[in-house]
Amino acid sequence: MTRMRAAIIGTGDVARLHAEAIAARNDAEVVVAVDVDAARAATFAAKYGISFSSTSLPDLDVDVVHLCTPPAGHAVQAEEAFARGAHVVVEKPPALTLRDVDRMVAAADAAGRQLAVVFQQRTGTAAAHVKRLLDSGDLGRPLLARCDTFWFRDDAYFAAPWRGTWANEGGGTTLGHGIHQLDLLAYLLGEVDEVHGQAWRLARDIETEDVSTAVLRFESGVVATAMTSAVSPRQESSIRIDTNLATIELEHLYGHGHGNWRITPRPGTDAPANWAFPASETPSGHDAYIDAVYPALAADGPLPSVATAPARSMEIVAALYASSERGSAVSLREVRESAELRGPMSARVRDERSR
Ligand SMILES: NC(=O)c1ccc[n+]([C@@H]2O[C@H](COP(=O)([O-])OP(=O)(O)OC[C@H]3O[C@@H](n4cnc5c(N)ncnc54)[C@H](O)[C@@H]3O)[C@@H](O)[C@H]2O)c1
Repeated sequence: MTRMRAAIIGTGDVARLHAEAIAARNDAEVVVAVDVDAARAATFAAKYGISFSSTSLPDLDVDVVHLCTPPAGHAVQAEEAFARGAHVVVEKPPALTLRDVDRMVAAADAAGRQLAVVFQQRTGTAAAHVKRLLDSGDLGRPLLARCDTFWFRDDAYFAAPWRGTWANEGGGTTLGHGIHQLDLLAYLLGEVDEVHGQAWRLARDIETEDVSTAVLRFESGVVATAMTSAVSPRQESSIRIDTNLATIELEHLYGHGHGNWRITPRPGTDAPANWAFPASETPSGHDAYIDAVYPALAADGPLPSVATAPARSMEIVAALYASSERGSAVSLREVRESAELRGPMSARVRDERSR
């Protein structure tokens, strides 16, 4: 068996999850760790038994390049990786702008390689089960939903040079944090039609928003609310979907297993046997993501659904920001067609801190 050879670029916080997920596979290995901080790359390489570390991607044969760098670097780094004939696994958000995501997709297509964006909330046996039941209609017709990300990030977190500004991070807590649940909601319910949203600055000393609120209408007619916060002491990520037959709820923080989900039949009815979660359980996370994506990369086959639609949730965020700027709803169609909305994002952020 040929082992897939991977490079990890950016050896900060999230890189660990990539190294551990690859180390757990017997068909892949990380052959080089790259970071602009040479000492950090070397320490990371030593910790994970990676034979080579460097401050730039060396002239080595690699099959997959993992981008665990701040989002400002993703587009250029992905293009370099595709030019070398490698697949790219890139952390969310895939880039600072949708235009850059389009460039990355075009570069992948031109090279005949895959661009896999890490939205690991889609993974795991629970999300797969719920998606199967929703897609088949067994859970009824979705009517309304709620999608909340209540996280806590202090000032020290936003002090990192790439955080808290439109230019360096591309957006605030909606793009950085809320995008995970928004991505999962759209994975479960399909395309969003329009977003009416507002961006708020309630507590943090940043240029971007630390809270956002939105109403989403899906193409299917489902209506949803979405709140994202970086200032909530008791942290929770949650989704609730009400169909004509059931309420589906997910409550977790950064990852979910079967115990984080609940399906309640409508009053006066019993849950059919096929609503029960399967006996064997894989939690969501980077391990599950890599396990789903690597076989497809090795086979040069299409990506599994947990890794498709690289721009979908970022388009929802772009619509929310544009809506906050204008004070009216913005359609996803406009986001797909407008050069301006595919460019750098910004929003009118209502600053309530001085009240
Ligand atoms: N999927 C998730 O749950 C999750 C969780 C955390 C972070 N992330 C994403 O992962 C990415 C990185 O976040 P992080 O928290 O690990 O950041 P971090 O600041 O901890 O690490 C980033 C690393 O990249 C290095 N770096 C910066 N520019 C570079 C360049 N041009 N070449 C090589 N190395 C470079 C930095 O020195 C640093 O070590 C972001 O896109 C973030 O949104 C995703």
